Amino acid sequence: MTHNSILEINDLSVHFGGLKAIANVSISINKGELIGLIGPNGAGKTTLFNAITGLCRPTGGHIFFNDKDIVNKPAHYISRQGLARTFQNIRLFKTLTALENLRIAYHQNLHYSILAGILKTKSFNRGEKAAVEQATEILSIVGLDSYANEVADNLSYGNQRKLEIARALVTNPKMLLLDEPAAGMNPIETKELINLIRKLRTEFNITIFLIEHDMNVVMSLCEKIFVLDYGVLIAQGSVDEIKSNEQVIKAYLGEDL
Ligand SMILES: Nc1ncnc2c1ncn2[C@@H]1O[C@H](COP(=O)(O)OP(=O)(O)OP(=O)(O)O)[C@@H](O)[C@H]1O
Ligand SMILES: [Mg+2]
Repeated sequence: MTHNSILEINDLSVHFGGLKAIANVSISINKGELIGLIGPNGAGKTTLFNAITGLCRPTGGHIFFNDKDIVNKPAHYISRQGLARTFQNIRLFKTLTALENLRIAYHQNLHYSILAGILKTKSFNRGEKAAVEQATEILSIVGLDSYANEVADNLSYGNQRKLEIARALVTNPKMLLLDEPAAGMNPIETKELINLIRKLRTEFNITIFLIEHDMNVVMSLCEKIFVLDYGVLIAQGSVDEIKSNEQVIKAYLGEDL
């Protein structure tokens, strides 16, 4: 592991019965990098994120986050190390407001004693105030301040995706995994998303690893791209290297790029 590396995946495999969803993949990401992960449907992209975040158990290999081996560690442990994610299928509490969704994430992160909540102790009230303050600040970072009291289900698809990012930020992550953040967004929302992701990296120093089918998003944001095909890492490199890689063009990008 190099000094600067934050995520180091060595020879990782995830098999579902006979299906090799991830086959001997090795990936290294440095602190502060903005990295893309692309590949055709079913290539294993989400499975890789699930393995990294403790949502599925690898068949073999190692994953080091900040020098700690996180393979077979529970998801909440991995999250507390500073690794947060969003989901391809939005997972919000639909009937709760934007602010309430973030407050819940805040409390899940702090692990208050239930008793403190019931008794409404001073420390609980202080925590509650801090939760609302932090949630409000994060809503403004992602540009959702005017939607704080809107029920999540009433938000546009694009804004629900932003709220998912906001929820991931509540845990104060060192690294953020985004699974198709631009999916379902209109061109204006996509442009805002690109700016937001840039801001998270430059202003908040968060390392970002993102899965995306929208090549405009990937090519304009990422300094390095990994390409998966049938669970195999077929290429890695700069935008230009990936665009001109024969194997990638054949597997995924098509002849017209
Ligand atoms: N829990 C599971 N059990 C069995 N098979 C699974 C499971 N999760 C994923 N798979 C299979 O593993 C392969 C990789 O799926 P994955 O969702 O990781 O692909 P993906 O690259 O994210 O695709 P997409 O771009 O469509 O989101 C697929 O063949 C999928 O059907
Ligand atoms: Mg996926």
